[in-house]
Amino acid sequence: MLKTTVKALACALSLTAGLAFADPITIKFAHVVADNTPKGQGALLFKKLAEERLPGKVKVEVYPNSSLYGDGKEMEALLLGDVHMLAPSLAKFEHYNKGIQIYDLPFLFDDIEAVDRFQASPQGQKLLSSMEDKGITGLAYWHNGMKQLSSNKAMHEPKDARGLKFRVQASNVLDEQFKAIRANPRKMSFSEVYQGLQTGVVNGTENTWSNYYSQKVHEVQPYFTHSEHGVIDYMVITNTKFWKGLPDDVRGELKTIMDEVTVEVNRQADDLNREARDAIAKAGTSEIIELTPEQRAKWREAMQPVWKKFEGEIGKELIEAAQASNQQ
Ligand code: LMR
Repeated sequence: MLKTTVKALACALSLTAGLAFADPITIKFAHVVADNTPKGQGALLFKKLAEERLPGKVKVEVYPNSSLYGDGKEMEALLLGDVHMLAPSLAKFEHYNKGIQIYDLPFLFDDIEAVDRFQASPQGQKLLSSMEDKGITGLAYWHNGMKQLSSNKAMHEPKDARGLKFRVQASNVLDEQFKAIRANPRKMSFSEVYQGLQTGVVNGTENTWSNYYSQKVHEVQPYFTHSEHGVIDYMVITNTKFWKGLPDDVRGELKTIMDEVTVEVNRQADDLNREARDAIAKAGTSEIIELTPEQRAKWREAMQPVWKKFEGEIGKELIEAAQASNQQ
């Protein structure tokens, strides 16, 4: 009898202890860039706010620089539940939703403000939930910024890029963009870019100033062309099953935090890119080529035929909605 009571008491105690000291939910957030970039800063701010506001309930582990999963592996890991949050560049979703390819169309958006307006539009917001049937939930868009070109050769006009090898993200649109200027695109993971440029596997690439500077690309690229020919932004995503399985209060608070972090990331992204550009100029390793309006028009004219090739996959209406975001 006594033995049974002690046993029951021990059991009750351990249950209470279990409830009081339940393990926090661990959220692994992996990404491929450095901490000193818009995405890197966003992931760290998300961790800080989540752990401050949900003490003991949530722990966020941030893995930058492809340290947990890099391109090519991270989506699979998210679907398997091995990582819970990612923020891939919008160029990396073509296997999951063709509509998201819209963000890769060259010279579609005049500037990051136009991108912002499109993302906030009903069409832009719809893309966030467009992959739920595949197990991916989009939580937010984060800006990085407009893309610039880089190379081991000075590029003022599209003809200067002819025959050069360019690293591209895993995107068919970007592949076609470089083919349109008679260059040779090569899909490559972000973590391989520096070495690829250093060893001459590729001659050039395209990216934002913050990604160039934080990866030290200026050490291996003597020329940048300030082209603003496209955008690199992100979709913060989570595993749908994981997200829906969170306790309601935790999920609600995390969404509120995500919205706050998004405002902050998008407010700071421009400054981070400007600072990175200044730092590259100051390093004195590379020339930053400014284009005249006529030269820029030539790049646009050479690259824009790509739109037609992808109109069927992306949808004419979506392209028109994106164009409309330029005119406000
Ligand atoms: C790239 O692969 O070039 C970038 O999109 C990496 C990133 O996440 O900014």
